Amino acid sequence: MPSTISFLLGRKPVTIDFCGSAAWSPAWTLLQYLRSLPDRKGTKEGCGQGDCGACTVVLAEPDREGRLKYSAVNSCLLFLPMVHGRQVLTVEDLKFPDGSLHPVQQAMIDHYGSQCGFCTPGVVMTLFALFKQKPHASAAEIRSALAGNLCRCTGYQPIFRAAQQCLALSGPERESSEEGSTLAELNSIPPAEWEWTGKSEIYCRPKSLEQALEMIGRNPTLSPVHGATDLSLQVHLKHNPPPGILDLSAIPELRASRQEKEELILGSGMSLSDVAGHVRRTHPALEEMLQRFGSAQIRNVATLGGNVGTASPIGDALPALMAYGAAVELKSLAGSRTVPLSDFILGYRRTGIAPGEIIAAVRLPFPPPGARIRAYKVSRRHDVDISTVNGAFRLQLDSDGRIREARLVFGGMSPFTRRAAGAEQALLGKEWSRAAAEEAAARLQEDFQPISDVRGSAGFRRQVAANLLLKFWSDTRSGQAP
Ligand SMILES: Cc1cc2nc3c(=O)[nH]c(=O)nc-3n(C[C@H](O)[C@H](O)[C@H](O)COP(=O)(O)OP(=O)(O)OC[C@H]3O[C@@H](n4cnc5c(N)ncnc54)[C@H](O)[C@@H]3O)c2cc1C
Ligand code: FES
Ligand code: FES
Repeated sequence: MPSTISFLLGRKPVTIDFCGSAAWSPAWTLLQYLRSLPDRKGTKEGCGQGDCGACTVVLAEPDREGRLKYSAVNSCLLFLPMVHGRQVLTVEDLKFPDGSLHPVQQAMIDHYGSQCGFCTPGVVMTLFALFKQKPHASAAEIRSALAGNLCRCTGYQPIFRAAQQCLALSGPERESSEEGSTLAELNSIPPAEWEWTGKSEIYCRPKSLEQALEMIGRNPTLSPVHGATDLSLQVHLKHNPPPGILDLSAIPELRASRQEKEELILGSGMSLSDVAGHVRRTHPALEEMLQRFGSAQIRNVATLGGNVGTASPIGDALPALMAYGAAVELKSLAGSRTVPLSDFILGYRRTGIAPGEIIAAVRLPFPPPGARIRAYKVSRRHDVDISTVNGAFRLQLDSDGRIREARLVFGGMSPFTRRAAGAEQALLGKEWSRAAAEEAAARLQEDFQPISDVRGSAGFRRQVAANLLLKFWSDTRSGQAP
């Protein structure tokens, strides 16, 4: 049975059949593939774990409106089959056929945006994606886009000025005459579904939910994967691959959202960038937290399903999801069930998922009017860093101003993200005052016994958690917007 992927590498159609190839395996990263080609050495490997951005390339794919959507991604994390049906653009593709440089490249030269040049291809590709997607990006949007690209020698000011110059261009310069034919070529690539068994690994790539459930039903040892920003580190950095990979990234229904009367249903395979766009108006505390999540390159591929699936004690989406009362929708050949997220996360990187099940969606109820909800992340660096402590809090007050419902959720304080039962209890029936917040903060000492590690001592974590509650009070006390 062929195990084939097809994509465009720049303007060139490429087909790889893993069965016929002794050289490439589907668990290879896109970066390994690019670096194995004689004419694609511009893409660099720095950290190999999503932190430096040297390996940034751009993926183009048709969006819902039928236009090309360009996303900067870390090629060191993406499994090669995930590019099926997409266009992969590397720094070699930017120059125009007449030999002139792309405006992004020219701006980097004009503003002396490169010294040793190691980071430069990655920086250029990040700016190219921004150039395509956000023509008039604000200063904050430029900074946010560049947060995932480390430059150790030039300094960011020249790069920032280069970004401003090229993003100020508008009109025909930014139109590519080839986009129509690229779209037609991508649309002509049929979805691919296959199962591949190598010497020691299995890689399954279903194209529908039914096929996915059938595959994992037959082989429950498969690990489901969406963005692979977590799982590919297990394979390539820790050299501890799972027995098999079930790549869910090609299943359209897992990447879609829908709205029901009282909740938003977010497909488990929606990228965090897409989720942020969907919840901006309805669940702003979640959206704010997602802005602090990894880098743009990570958010463009990492998913909500993946974040829930890791059950990481410092998973950044989890506190906000729990504060909003989210539930996970699980599917298997036996049917489907819905479990509140706070019951689904059972321990350190342990969930209540049953063999043969996958997370299909996250159900996010709309908060009641007047609910006071905020989410916070404390990390050693502002961008692209793991939380030391994170938290999301929600209060509902009675008409007489007393607290009727309290949800205080913390990550980084115990082996898994969970609510602070004692502190919540201390708030019930009280007015939302500084004294009440301080009393709840004191109760956190009994709720959690955090550990000390490289990110912070137990004492530091306790102090931060207490301070976050006081900040919550300060941000939501009467007179502030709920
Ligand atoms: C550079 C870098 C920065 C990061 N920054 C952050 C950060 O700021 N905050 C944060 O919380 N995390 C961060 N992460 C971790 C990771 O990006 C997130 O946990 C992300 O949400 C994982 O999503 P994914 O789709 O890539 O997951 P994957 O790697 O695809 O999967 C992760 C786990 O979930 C399981 N899983 C995935 N999908 C399903 C499913 N449908 N059903 C059942 N199980 C499933 C997988 O088997 C695997 O165990 C970072 C990672 C990197 C490399
Ligand atoms: S090599 Fe550093 S992010 Fe990929
Ligand atoms: S130019 Fe040297 S690291 Fe950026």
